[in-house]
Order: sequence, then structure tokens, then C-alpha cells
Amino acid sequence: MTGINVAFGGVLALTDVSVTVEPGQVHGLIGPNGAGKTTLFNVACGLVRPTSGRIVWRGEEMRRLKPSKLTSLGIARTLQGVGLFPGMTVLENVMVGAHRHAHAGFGSALLALPTSDKDERLLRERAMRALTELNAGHYAGRYPGSLPYPVQKRVALARALVAEPELLLLDEPASGLSEDEMHELGELIRSVVGRMSVLLVEHHMDLVMRVCDRITVLDSGKQIAAGTPAEVQADPAVTEAYLGDAVDAEADAAELTHADGGRPHA
Ligand SMILES: Nc1ncnc2c1ncn2[C@@H]1O[C@H](COP(=O)(O)OP(=O)(O)O)[C@@H](O)[C@H]1O
Ligand SMILES: [Mg+2]
Repeated sequence: MTGINVAFGGVLALTDVSVTVEPGQVHGLIGPNGAGKTTLFNVACGLVRPTSGRIVWRGEEMRRLKPSKLTSLGIARTLQGVGLFPGMTVLENVMVGAHRHAHAGFGSALLALPTSDKDERLLRERAMRALTELNAGHYAGRYPGSLPYPVQKRVALARALVAEPELLLLDEPASGLSEDEMHELGELIRSVVGRMSVLLVEHHMDLVMRVCDRITVLDSGKQIAAGTPAEVQADPAVTEAYLGDAVDAEADAAELTHADGGRPHA
């Protein structure tokens, strides 16, 4: 993404931001609240159309990137929160993510209804493998609403991974996770980079510093720093931007200690 500008009404949410996710790398996008991280993420998934700027994917300029085309372009995403279908089992939720590999027509693929028993069986196996990889295989027959929040997040990730994307987009995947769960998530992200690139939007600095190859820092819609974790950490502009955000970080920490009370459901 090059020279991306986004304006909402009169508000400039992004000003001349450029981010390139290199193949096989984890690219972190960080910055204080309101910096424009989610907006840039939404540009990358076609949910927000930039006022100006270029999006190039696989060497081709994407003039009209549509969210519905992402999977066929080899891009998968998880959104802030969880976003599972409450009326479907865990396995069915993950099967929806696998439709790129099914030989079904558009309508039936959307509903994860394969055209043949063989397709159905392959899809099921693929979805089961993704769940097992995320240590959630034993929840396959359950409904998302009955599962703890961290498990729901693993299922959402399985749904993104099952399409075997070339690029995985993650918006705040660590929100609502404990320290241990966050550590597991970090290991998981590192374990998939052999197969895909990752754009990671996250405000937990320790996670970002541990798993990212490169980092872009936004503040008030502008890019204030970019580089390796060490370079970004040593940048005084970053420290300064984050000082103002310390209050928000404390509020987040307080929310976490209130156990399940504040956790959203699917
Ligand atoms: N749909 C929208 N309409 C108007 N303003 C928006 C919209 N989405 C985001 N903004 C504004 O754009 C700025 C960046 O927001 P966002 O990308 O959500 O930041 P972050 O994810 O870094 O916290 C904020 O000032 C926010 O209020
Ligand atoms: Mg956000």
C-alpha cells in the first residue's frame, strides 16, 4: 500500500501512509488509540476505500478491492472481536473459511455447502486439521456461544488459516487474552510465517516486538516510524507518541483483570 490517504468527512484518518508486507514476514502496525490502525487494516481488506493511494497485491494494482474477493485473492483476515456465526458449530464455522478450496459454485460455497459428498468430506477434514493445529479439535461439535472467549478466538483464527492464505490480516488478535494465551498466540503467528505473510495490528507492545520482522508506527493518521523492532523501540518519536497512550493501556489492563465481565460474545 503506497501513499494511502483516507478522509472521513473532514477528518483525515490517514495521511500518506505506505506499508509493504514482504513475503514470509510478519509486519506489525502499532500506534496509540485513534492512530488509524483499523482504518489502514480496513483499506487492506477492501472495507474502506482510500481517498487516494495505491494498493498492489501480487504485482497487480487493486483498483476495486472487495471484501468478498479476499479469499480468492489469497487473503484472509480476522476482525477486532471474534465474528463467528452463532448458529453454526465450530467445525461448520471453520468450513466456511475453507470454501476457496471447494469446487462449489459461488452461492453454495458461501453457505459452505459443497456440491458432492467427496468435497464435503475433504472440507471437513481440512477444517478439522486447522482446528487441531490450534488445539481446538475437541470443540468441533460445540456452538461458539458456549465456549470461553480465548477458544472462540482460536476458532476464528482456524477459520482464517484453513483457506491457506498467502496473506493473513489480524486486527488486535491479542485483545482479551491472558499473558499465557498471548504468548501462545505469538508462537502460533511465528509458526505460520513459513507458509504466509502476516499484517498484525496490535497494541500489546511486547507481543509486537517479539513476533514482528518489521513494524510501522502510526500516530494521528501519520507514519511516525518504521523499521525493525529494535529500530522502532529506539526511536524517540515512538516513545513520545506512547507516553500519551499510557493511560489507555492502564485502562485495558484493568479491564482484563475483571475476568469475563467485559468480554464480548460471538
Ligand atoms: N467510519 C468512520 N467514520 C468517521 N471517522 C472514523 C471512522 N473510523 C475511524 N474514524 C476516525 O479515524 C481515526 C482513526 O481511527 P482508527 O483507524 O479506528 O484508529 P485505531 O484503530 O488506531 O485506534 C479516529 O480519529 C477515528 O475517530
Ligand atoms: Mg483499532
